[in-house]
Amino acid sequence: MDKDDQQELTNRQGHPITDNQNIRTVGRRGPSTLENYDYLEKITHFDRERIPERVVHARGAGAHGVFEAYGTVGNEPISKYTRAKLFQDTGKQTPVFVRFSTVVHGNASPETERDPRGFAVKFYTEDGNWDLVGNNLKVFFIRDPLKFPDMVHSFKPDPVNNISNPERMFDFLSLTPEATHMVTFVFSPWGIPANYRQMQGSGVNTYKWVNQAGEAVLVKYHWQPLKQGLRNLTAKEASEIQAHNYSHATQDLYEAIKRGDYPEWELCVQIMSDDEHPELDFDPLDPTKLWPEELFPFLPVGKMTLNRNPENYFNEVEQAAFGTGVLVDGLDFSDDKLLQGRTFSYSDTQRYRVGTNYLQLPINAPKKHVATNQRGGQMEFRVDRAPGQNPSVDYEPSSLGGLKEATQSGNDHEPEYHAKLVRQKIDRTNDFKQAGETYRAFEDWERDELIQNLVGTLSVCKEDIRERMIGYFTEADSDYGRRVREGLKDELAKRAGQAHTGTAEADRAVDDAKGMGG
Ligand code: HEM
Repeated sequence: MDKDDQQELTNRQGHPITDNQNIRTVGRRGPSTLENYDYLEKITHFDRERIPERVVHARGAGAHGVFEAYGTVGNEPISKYTRAKLFQDTGKQTPVFVRFSTVVHGNASPETERDPRGFAVKFYTEDGNWDLVGNNLKVFFIRDPLKFPDMVHSFKPDPVNNISNPERMFDFLSLTPEATHMVTFVFSPWGIPANYRQMQGSGVNTYKWVNQAGEAVLVKYHWQPLKQGLRNLTAKEASEIQAHNYSHATQDLYEAIKRGDYPEWELCVQIMSDDEHPELDFDPLDPTKLWPEELFPFLPVGKMTLNRNPENYFNEVEQAAFGTGVLVDGLDFSDDKLLQGRTFSYSDTQRYRVGTNYLQLPINAPKKHVATNQRGGQMEFRVDRAPGQNPSVDYEPSSLGGLKEATQSGNDHEPEYHAKLVRQKIDRTNDFKQAGETYRAFEDWERDELIQNLVGTLSVCKEDIRERMIGYFTEADSDYGRRVREGLKDELAKRAGQAHTGTAEADRAVDDAKGMGG
């Protein structure tokens, strides 16, 4: 086929399209007929162009790249802690795909929202895929997955009128004391990273590493931006960007990669022995807590560079499916309840959002061979069969030339459990201490912004909601609580004065607060 023929427009049956301007009609002025196959194919495909957007993290941008292992952790060979092959050899390269996102609003919402940012990485390793599905912030709002749908509902627009209402969000948060630490981060400038390149990433949840002998340690993952640095925005800077650009972060990432200015992050881990650590005043499995760096230092294990833009947003970014269940040999789950709840949720939503065979799509399929006995289902287009496998055998065990179980590469990690089956909180909830430490660790301008953002948003909430939040901030740090209380007093007095004189400023102040993304 010569090049000109390849440019020729066809339909999906391979039929040449000789007229893409006129449907077939009875006479020049119509009516049209039902056998307009090319038109019907074109319009019905168009009618189905969108798939459901992600229920959270709908707005995102992605890029391809490479992860290069250091082969060590601290001064030790990494094999002491994990047998995961991608980490073992110095300089070993693994291809990756990353998707960054905002959380709450839809897939055309502004990227300047006050919101955590998603930081999801798919490693296409020689042992199959590993997904590290993280956020930019190192802690989370809740520690029990049963609360997740309620939390997300309260952050999303009001179901009656589809308008964002911070009173709904703070209604939930003011009855969720464990969220105080995360609220402190989200309402500070850390809640609006300047773009996707200049932010950190974190796995948030606690995982395990398992070595050849089957011994495990607890581990937390963190991405540190390298040459591009770290930058957050004030609320004013963000609203200036939002006034003229809804896609500044996607654009920034795309353009940086296009001009060869490849963003880089170092992957660091914190390691703890695998036990309950009664000496700590928090539970190591609690995702609302930081592991103090002075006790559990950040140990670099490799570097990631993003160096290739997607060729098609829908195929690569929209249909990408990440999940916390996607681990490789040498990596394991901890008993972190939030992690376990997440792990069911991701593949469940992806079977609905993308389809039963979502793992056959090129962006989601591993780069090693796949041989399963799974057959059929909507949109299956390939049989995942091994070379030489008897095509009639789609079951195991079999003596007729089917697939065989793989050999184990190390000892299993087999933790023992002796406990009652209960519905109970963890013991060391300690909901406020780290929120206070984070408040005090901020720079002055970050603290000023935090107070101002909280005052603006809480001022549109009912008094009992405001009081509960002030109570939490005071427990975290008395200065924190006092500043929010005084700020609210001034703001409400100002509003009352403006409402009395009926100024437009009063309406505008309320509108500003309603714009908060959560
Ligand atoms: C996306 C559930 C907590 C990070 C999602 C999606 C669901 C979900 C259903 C949409 C996935 C898709 O359509 O492909 C949950 C549940 C949680 C939880 C049930 C808690 C119980 C977290 C936490 C983090 C996080 C703690 C951060 C560490 C992400 C990211 C995405 C995402 C980054 C977007 C992935 C992408 O780019 O496709 N989550 N999530 N989630 N979640 Fe969570």
